[in-house]
Amino acid sequence: MATISRSSRQSPADVRSEPTPIQRASSVLELIGNTPLLEITRLTEGLVRPGVRVFAKLEGFNPGGSVKDRPARKMVEIGLERGDLRPGKVIIDSTSGNTGIALAMVGAALGYPVELVMAANVSKERKKIIEAFGARPIYSDPLEGSDGAILLCRKIIAENPDRYFKPDQYNNAANPLAHFQTTGPEIWRQTGGTVTHFVAGLGTSGTVMGTGRYLKSRNPAIRVIGMEPDDAMHGLEGLKHMATSIVPGIYNEAELDDKIAVSTEDAYDMVYALGQVEGVLVGQSSGAAMVAALKVACSLREGCVVTIFADFGDRYLSTNLWIGWQQWRRDRIERLVSRWNVSANATT
Ligand SMILES: Cc1ncc(COP(=O)(O)O)c(C=O)c1O
Repeated sequence: MATISRSSRQSPADVRSEPTPIQRASSVLELIGNTPLLEITRLTEGLVRPGVRVFAKLEGFNPGGSVKDRPARKMVEIGLERGDLRPGKVIIDSTSGNTGIALAMVGAALGYPVELVMAANVSKERKKIIEAFGARPIYSDPLEGSDGAILLCRKIIAENPDRYFKPDQYNNAANPLAHFQTTGPEIWRQTGGTVTHFVAGLGTSGTVMGTGRYLKSRNPAIRVIGMEPDDAMHGLEGLKHMATSIVPGIYNEAELDDKIAVSTEDAYDMVYALGQVEGVLVGQSSGAAMVAALKVACSLREGCVVTIFADFGDRYLSTNLWIGWQQWRRDRIERLVSRWNVSANATT
């Protein structure tokens, strides 16, 4: 592999000690994390300067199929340690889907029942996967989005508070902690300590907060950038438009160096591009992450930009994402980049 970036700080000792790949496990929970980091080369060719590299962490390789396996395992682990979760209790949470799948998987692996409150319009695939893990879905008003699920979940718990353990991903410090302890160190190791920019979508914000904190603890010069939908009525499942949403308690905007807003249309175009040009089929939030990562990369003379592909695309095949995709042409990505018009006044 060629060197990543000359300007980046070089690796501390732990960078050289790669974790041993797991050959065998006694629980599916041990298989969470250590996902591959893929360099995006074909899509970025001719669009970014030679000293700029873009990588995506493929979180679809987690056993539950998304980045959410990490916080789900950590929140349950800490709940058990504290005695908040104990035999007889039911795990309940409001979730836009991936956390639900992850909690359903973790609950099944540990023998705890799981109930999940979600907007009724989440994809059919997600609903079926949740049920296949033995969890019980409870549907909230689709017009109220993820906030409607949060409010209904609160109501259910208030009616029967002793019955439930609520991981509460929006307010639980174990969510960003999971990323501080796993996603951040993995990216640091996988880039040999040369990552310069980290870009991630805002849902609960756990990924960007925890990973960003870890990376800045290793090198304060690393820029941490949050990505969010550009509009309240977006089609980017898993992401929040903060200005019009209930703001998660774990979110601290002051820790971000920048924020990038991405339109649903650009994100969908990027999903098609990643599938056809790079051979990676991802979900819409990953398309949005790639748009934001590419925007950052186009503004640099040199650097190593890392983003998160939260899940793979097969969970969304029945959604609006796949309406009209046949019209997609590669020049749409070039047009997207030319709209930013940043290459003429690039910065480092
Ligand atoms: C598909 C997808 N992308 C991105 C995110 C955002 O991750 P986080 O909640 O860590 O901000 C989520 C969260 O649910 C998600 O499901």
